[in-house]
Amino acid sequence: MSIPRPAAEVWPAPSRPDRPASDTVRPLNMANGFTLWLVTGYAQVRQALSDPRLAKDSHTTAQLLRDRSIQAHQALFGQALLHHMLNTDPPEHRRLRQMVNKGFTQRRVQALRPRIERITDDLLAAIGEDGPVDLIEALAFPLPITVICELLGVPEADRRTFRSWTNAFVLSVEPDVLQNALTSLDRYIHDLVAEKRRSPGDDIISGLVTEDGEDALTDDEVAAMAVLLLAAGHETTVNLIGNGVLALVTHPDQLAALRADRSLLPGAIEEFLRFESPVNQATLRYTDEAVEIGGTTIPAGEFVMINIDSANHDPERYPDPDRMDLRRDAGGHMAFGHGIHFCLGAPLARLEAEVVFGRLLDTFGGIELALPVERLEWRPSTLMRGLEKLPLRMVRRP
Ligand code: HEM
Repeated sequence: MSIPRPAAEVWPAPSRPDRPASDTVRPLNMANGFTLWLVTGYAQVRQALSDPRLAKDSHTTAQLLRDRSIQAHQALFGQALLHHMLNTDPPEHRRLRQMVNKGFTQRRVQALRPRIERITDDLLAAIGEDGPVDLIEALAFPLPITVICELLGVPEADRRTFRSWTNAFVLSVEPDVLQNALTSLDRYIHDLVAEKRRSPGDDIISGLVTEDGEDALTDDEVAAMAVLLLAAGHETTVNLIGNGVLALVTHPDQLAALRADRSLLPGAIEEFLRFESPVNQATLRYTDEAVEIGGTTIPAGEFVMINIDSANHDPERYPDPDRMDLRRDAGGHMAFGHGIHFCLGAPLARLEAEVVFGRLLDTFGGIELALPVERLEWRPSTLMRGLEKLPLRMVRRP
């Protein structure tokens, strides 16, 4: 069954491409008068994500926007809070990433399994049976946000408040809404960093502020790192859980196969990531010099948007790509990106998904959509692919 998709939308609202749609690399004329290059197709996306000539430094991004008189976005990219590892290039990127790398290795993440199981079980136990349940609200949102906040040492009471701010990063909002969110987040995170400096705990932010080697981070760098980890740590995994459960309930044969053979679960999670990728587009890049991709040359100093979803649905890489098949080899998908910015949190996201899907099937013998699939609403976002709500009817096992 194919799930209805919203019309393609690219920040900040493009006109129609002026090249044939079959081109994998093409310019899009944006509403505010500048051109953005869109890269699609598996081979092209993979090349673009790992090509060092496609750069990300936030200061240069701000300068390029200034050159094009795009004031609102330029002001945002110029802010210290957005100068984090995902908006830097080597060698700065390497220095920032290595400061947190050790906290997210396969081994360190596996040690979190009992805690993730506990949080999941508590959330599932709180689900009532007397009506439809919104799985986003009940499970897909609270689990990853609780986990990343515990890792970073963010107090429980503050979680919903800052979510309203990180939402502004991933949803399509006006520049002034984004600016207000950034101002609030900036104040909140700097207060938190100062608090960790005064009384450090056993968490990642405390670890960063107490580090005193020559690579030690400034308070601004710690704040930017915290914002990136908080936003990336929960705005994405919520979609893996939501989209994965939706894929199962709309493919009852696959759901039954997974129930019958749990050894399919790790492969199923890779297929969810491929089939309904939580992140649609990679974050914005620019060409440091002219770059040829897929036979098209993108001139120097151009903005480039790389479409992950198209790579994961490229029939040359994945035969019959719009068919969800838990037994297919979905390996090599681009859902976590590729190259030096490959997702730092991939082991954590996979573990959270493994626990969630396993426990859901253990706890509920019946899971089905509580409304027709056409009535589901997707979040208004260029970057993300995720549901507003996922109403389900679920029957507990005896
Ligand atoms: C299913 C869940 C997730 C998906 C689909 C996802 C996807 C991605 C993608 C596509 C990128 C690369 C973006 C680009 O190159 O423009 C990325 C980078 C990143 N992700 Fe994730 N992510 C997920 C979960 C997480 C979690 C749980 C964390 C928490 C630690 C995290 C932290 C990061 C960081 C820090 C980066 C930047 C890495 C760098 O610049 O070197 N992600 N993620």
